[in-house]
Amino acid sequence: MTTAIYPGTFDPITNGHSDLVQRATRLFDRIVVAVATGSDKAPVFSLEERVAMIQTVFTDNPRVEVRSFNTLLVEFARECRAPVILRGLRAVSDFEYEFQLASMNRHLAPDVETLFLTPSEEYAYISSSLVREITMLGGDVSPFVHEKVVAALRERLG
Ligand code: COA
Repeated sequence: MTTAIYPGTFDPITNGHSDLVQRATRLFDRIVVAVATGSDKAPVFSLEERVAMIQTVFTDNPRVEVRSFNTLLVEFARECRAPVILRGLRAVSDFEYEFQLASMNRHLAPDVETLFLTPSEEYAYISSSLVREITMLGGDVSPFVHEKVVAALRERLG
């Protein structure tokens, strides 16, 4: 069974993230969505809330598992028996940070590979922080996130 781990802060999960997971299910038997505490980013949603939202989004897909972690990513990948870390590349601007992250992870764990996928064009410009900002300013984020996430965003920030 091939497993890939898809890490992020997911504050909150967007349709861009979901699109990437759907693409990855064509390549891997099991995808572990790994939710980082993200304490450096001061997330709006707690770790438990972010995990629950992602579980809701993938409720119909038994091959997607959602777990939180607060260790080194490569250690958690090994714990999940995932030889592959999956990351999304939306635009050239993502590349520098992703290259640094992938290179450092390779240094820490040469047995774990990072694989990049690009999201569908319609999601190339979405980010969690934009979705939060649009909600705060009263805009409609329903094209960008799951309906349950829209409700959670409105309750917290709207
Ligand atoms: N669709 C929509 N948005 C996407 C996206 C996609 N396909 N891919 C990335 N993004 C956005 C996110 O919404 C987020 O937006 P925001 O900053 O506006 O909120 C941004 O791109 C990047 O966030 P994310 O993908 O969640 O990654 P991250 O940078 O927050 O997470 C970790 C990075 C968790 C992978 C990294 O910090 C980590 O590995 N931590 C564990 C500790 C560790 O091992 N550290 C050493 C690393 S070498």
